[in-house]
Amino acid sequence: MANRTAAHEAWRALRDLVKPRLTDLFESDGSRLEKLSARLELGEGGVLFDWSKTHLDDAHLGAFEALSEAMDFAGARSSLLSGGIVNPTEGRAAEHTAQRGVGDPDSVELAGTLHARMAGLVEAIHKGLLGEVKHLIHIGIGGSALGPALAVDALARHGAMVDVHVVSNIDGCALEEAFAACDPQTTMIAVASKTFTTIETMTNAQSALAWLQAAGVSDPFGRVVALTASPDKAVEWGVDETRVLPFSESVGGRYSLWSSIGFPVAMALGWPDFAEMLEGAAVMDRHFAETEGRDNLPLRAAFADLYYTHLRGCQTRAVFAYDERLALLPDYLQQLEMESNGKSVTADGEPIDEPTAPITWGGVGTDAQHAVFQLLHQGTNLVPIDFIAAVVPGDDLDEAHHRILLSNCFAQGAALMQGRQSDDPARSYTGDRPSATILIDELAPASFGALIAFHEHRTFANAVLMGINPFDQFGVELGKDIARQIEAGDVKFDASTEALLKAAGIAS
Ligand code: F6P
Repeated sequence: MANRTAAHEAWRALRDLVKPRLTDLFESDGSRLEKLSARLELGEGGVLFDWSKTHLDDAHLGAFEALSEAMDFAGARSSLLSGGIVNPTEGRAAEHTAQRGVGDPDSVELAGTLHARMAGLVEAIHKGLLGEVKHLIHIGIGGSALGPALAVDALARHGAMVDVHVVSNIDGCALEEAFAACDPQTTMIAVASKTFTTIETMTNAQSALAWLQAAGVSDPFGRVVALTASPDKAVEWGVDETRVLPFSESVGGRYSLWSSIGFPVAMALGWPDFAEMLEGAAVMDRHFAETEGRDNLPLRAAFADLYYTHLRGCQTRAVFAYDERLALLPDYLQQLEMESNGKSVTADGEPIDEPTAPITWGGVGTDAQHAVFQLLHQGTNLVPIDFIAAVVPGDDLDEAHHRILLSNCFAQGAALMQGRQSDDPARSYTGDRPSATILIDELAPASFGALIAFHEHRTFANAVLMGINPFDQFGVELGKDIARQIEAGDVKFDASTEALLKAAGIAS
């Protein structure tokens, strides 16, 4: 149970702390790097997390630990990991970790049964038992698309077992692009939707069926797999029950990569690699479950996040992957963090007058250096940055490529922190700009799984410390309602909206 008075005290203590420059923090504490960095071991290889270039010091870490005690972080975590109701507005548990074998025993068992069913179908398709399958068009949106798109792009660049195309947008250009790249005779369609009602997904799925039919595929529905928490709706829509892969209602959309929503990942990589991805995530789950205070990596990341939003007024947080394979990671994290914690009421419905989730944005290094880093080095906004890179290259070209990539990544962190003075103001760098670095030994299914699970738990830790429910998303509903209203022909709005509808020929 959270103790709000103790939480206010912890925030007051945090506000009173002095704010030394990053370079002074290194000078005054010779063991800073040791204290602020840590490795998560994953059997083969691991991941290094380095927060030493953030403004967190012993005093901040201690005060944030007091805040986490006041907000009953340990109680909330245990609720999350035991299948308790952590989504009070919808009366639900959030059991994504059960998909990885960590959680309520009954939920873990159910996830295992559903995974076995999924593995069976994946293996049958790979063996050709459902006819020749060379391409998979995965249709879903938001949490039903971003995770699969990221994982396939990150892990299946060299020799995917099936060529996967993820289509989310209702804009027909997206689906047409996939059609152009696939032969309908050897294409399977995966319809991924937790609710199986999302208009974009169902419209795209219908058009994909029409495409198969127009190409002479005799039984278009025979080429469709459904990935959903609403199996009855999928069957009603026309998918044969044997190709419906269900997952539990208690797995949230943006946390669903580990469930049957990960079907295209298993299709591209093969089941053993998918299972390794789950196990990598489970290593992070166990670390998160068993480690206390500042040593808990997702919790420490949340300390840094809250420091910058609440104590330094930062409205955005940037993520730069110095790895082409992780180019979609900022998009994935945007949904995870902004849909979870972009709230203005607490879990009890009380208004929040403090900042909540910052805007997550980012890109890929080194490209971003030549586009947006000017503002990061010399702009008036303070933007905390996460750099993410891997020691082992993902390419087979001359080693210069990877060496230059990593040198640039580390140079940015150093430059942002050090700054450089000049007599010419236009050529001066203030420095003291924070960054954290996540350095993966090798980007592989297990390390990828751990990286994503780290961010899920970081998001949850942020929510607990802010008193937010990170598992609902009512903010997306109003716009959907109004779009439905327009589709139904009700076009009475303000003058601007009416004029736009008329200009587009939707209203007369
Ligand atoms: O509109 C938001 C949202 O509900 C997301 O939370 C979800 O990931 C996405 O839409 C897709 O929903 P579904 O999987 O039910 O189609």
